[in-house]
Amino acid sequence: MMLRRNLVLLLLMWVGMQTAYSQPRVRQEFNQDWKFYLGDEAGAKSPGFNDGKWRGLTLPHDWSIEGKFDEKNPAKPEGGGLPTGIAWYRKSFTLSTLLQKKNIFIEFDGVYKNSEVWINGQLLGKRPYGYSSFNYDLTKYLNPGKNVIAVRVDNSAQPDSRWYSGSGIYRNVWLTATENIAIDHWGTFVSTPSVNKTAAKVSFKTQIRNKSRLKGQIDVQSQVYNAKGKLVASIRTDHIVLKDTLMEVTQSTTVNQPELWSVNNPHLYKVVTKIFSGKRLVDNYETPLGIRYFNFDAAKGFMLNGEYMKILGVCMHHDLGALGSAINVRAMQRQLEMMKEMGANAIRTAHNPPAPELLDLCDKMGFLVMDEAFDMWAKKKNKQDYHLNWNEWHVRDLQDMVKRDRNHPSIILWSIGNEIREQFDSTGVAITKELVKLVKDLDTTRLITSALTETDAKKNFIYQSGALDIYGLNYNHKLYKDFPKNYPGQKFIATETTSSLDTRGFYDMPSDSIRRWPKDGKTKLTEGNAEFAASSYDNVSAYWGSTHEETWKEAKKYEHVSGLFVWTGFDYLGEPLPYPWPARSSYFGIVDLAGFPKDAYYMYQSEWTSKPVLHVFPHWNWAVGKTVDVWAYYNNADEVELFLNGKSLGTRAKKGEELHVVWRVKYEPGILKAVSKKNGKVVLVKEIKTAGEPAKIELSVDRASIAADGKDLSFVTVRILDEQGNLVPDADNLVQFKLEGAGTIAGVDNGFQASLEPFKADYRKAYRGLCLAIVQAKERSGGIKLTATAVGLPGGDLTIKVK
Ligand code: GAL
Repeated sequence: MMLRRNLVLLLLMWVGMQTAYSQPRVRQEFNQDWKFYLGDEAGAKSPGFNDGKWRGLTLPHDWSIEGKFDEKNPAKPEGGGLPTGIAWYRKSFTLSTLLQKKNIFIEFDGVYKNSEVWINGQLLGKRPYGYSSFNYDLTKYLNPGKNVIAVRVDNSAQPDSRWYSGSGIYRNVWLTATENIAIDHWGTFVSTPSVNKTAAKVSFKTQIRNKSRLKGQIDVQSQVYNAKGKLVASIRTDHIVLKDTLMEVTQSTTVNQPELWSVNNPHLYKVVTKIFSGKRLVDNYETPLGIRYFNFDAAKGFMLNGEYMKILGVCMHHDLGALGSAINVRAMQRQLEMMKEMGANAIRTAHNPPAPELLDLCDKMGFLVMDEAFDMWAKKKNKQDYHLNWNEWHVRDLQDMVKRDRNHPSIILWSIGNEIREQFDSTGVAITKELVKLVKDLDTTRLITSALTETDAKKNFIYQSGALDIYGLNYNHKLYKDFPKNYPGQKFIATETTSSLDTRGFYDMPSDSIRRWPKDGKTKLTEGNAEFAASSYDNVSAYWGSTHEETWKEAKKYEHVSGLFVWTGFDYLGEPLPYPWPARSSYFGIVDLAGFPKDAYYMYQSEWTSKPVLHVFPHWNWAVGKTVDVWAYYNNADEVELFLNGKSLGTRAKKGEELHVVWRVKYEPGILKAVSKKNGKVVLVKEIKTAGEPAKIELSVDRASIAADGKDLSFVTVRILDEQGNLVPDADNLVQFKLEGAGTIAGVDNGFQASLEPFKADYRKAYRGLCLAIVQAKERSGGIKLTATAVGLPGGDLTIKVK
């Protein structure tokens, strides 16, 4: 019986594969069964090389995150303090007979960095920039039997980056099979030259490559489907005379009564392009489409689909905390979900092209995107950075970013660079013009900016080029006010703001004195504290930046500020300013590296959303008699009343521009209770209780059921509680995890910026009461049981379903 069922299953799989392979175009993940070796190995490019002893793994993979923190690692603490170096990846594969008749391409979404790729000993090419996606044609080198791909990755020349880059094939790899007549790589460009409520004109540019020597004719059909899968528009052009290399076919059609894409309703259409040679379908290609229009106005800011709105953005680096830079869709989605919950509606991909999946998520979830190309041009920021590749590669890298990304409705801005040094000298003029032209030749539907810091227009050569569509200013929030006076008629966006420094759960008093760490460009940090922490009262910032409130108050005030991108949504690895080693990750995030919100998260939530917010802090465990500042962020209410052990400490209401209220309280243990009221009616009540000794471990999970796909994740939060169930705010118990069943522990963290514990481990100390385990599904269904124990405490556990 069992045997028969297995046979039937096998047959079904075989039939399924044959049908898939008989499609004109097949694109599949090429992530499995790679071999990995950390080190250089001269012979590894040869097909006959014996990699039997190498480690087997599934991509995406980042070898740096598996390493040990060490101050002496060449990437330096700025680069995350983890090892870099040289490594090899190899994969052997045999193509099915059906695929052997096709053209075969391998596509790398990103390899950090200096990749060189060989197929069966033949060098296909190299790619220095670790954030570019690229594609090689394997067809003419393939054997009917076994084939070997070898990839050498060289991230050894350091220091190379101002933040953690990760090392390896850290994004997806794809294998694509096409017919001889096929749409070229990134060969469609779909845009909407005119949109209104009643109709949208959709234009299609399709690039077709002809590798056959056929001279005949083809028919090209472009169809638009709505989110429900209904065909809503179609255009077919017949008898197009084939050229023998690359040709472009232009078409357009109209979608009536379009459902517009917006941040609140990210409705997506899909374009299906079909190529026919006679009756035969030779290609079938999908492109996402969001129908929307937008405009930036110098006086009134940003307008989406005819309505003014502010771009409420955050900057994000690409690492995913404990997972390093190895991309994982669920981990990115979780970050975006938290940003959405906070009220953010925009992402800046600082300072490089992101994984394509991030843009897919932004399309689907309704984020506006500023897609950024570079952190430097020909002039370096670090000795071994991309400036070394600038001359040879910048044209290709910039063009590839635009070609790859220009179909994403989420993207509204291209940034040609962040804080580029050429803004300070006359070489900036020519390069800016060159880059802007490169982008405009490929896409004129977005605005082009650059994130500038030289605030004197006469001395800013990127600005002086006159080529930017919109002025992008980093920091300098005090200049927002007079911008229209100083730059009449110029559109404006705050491309980077704030750089507040915060450590979750840590508070320095008094809360109303603001620390600038470091205080200027000359002095090294002389303050700081022994805990390597920064106060979460939003009262610490870098001198070039501001607290969260300082900038937001200004950005909020002026309509001409079309939007802002706060530095940063999440903490990221590297750039541990202001602290020296052992600090190794940034303090700038609104959310910490483990994904636990800091207090400022709720300031934004109270301002950027309309859902009721009342957030009271700090914790309530202090020395008796100490003066403690109690803050509340709130909205949808007129006032907040605070009680300590039942006694009112008074009612406070935000006045003028204020974004929070504060009480100065003489500490006594007990219960702190805040009540927000509107028209005398209670809106929300929040209580914080003095916690006793650690007594138990509580586990909770973001999703209790995950997919059995070998990728999906469950984020397990561990809270150290006292007997009554209160979070113990200074608990640092060492938590030991044990996992049984259909999963693995992909990483652990606690969000502390100066912890040197490894991320790939089955233990983690709690930091200020919390730590995290990231559980990853295997490729089989079943259950996962995760147990957490700590010396002297009863253990906690939970189960996760894998389906
Ligand atoms: C900016 C820079 C960012 C980051 C930040 C830290 O000047 O663009 O990459 O370094 O400072 O405050």
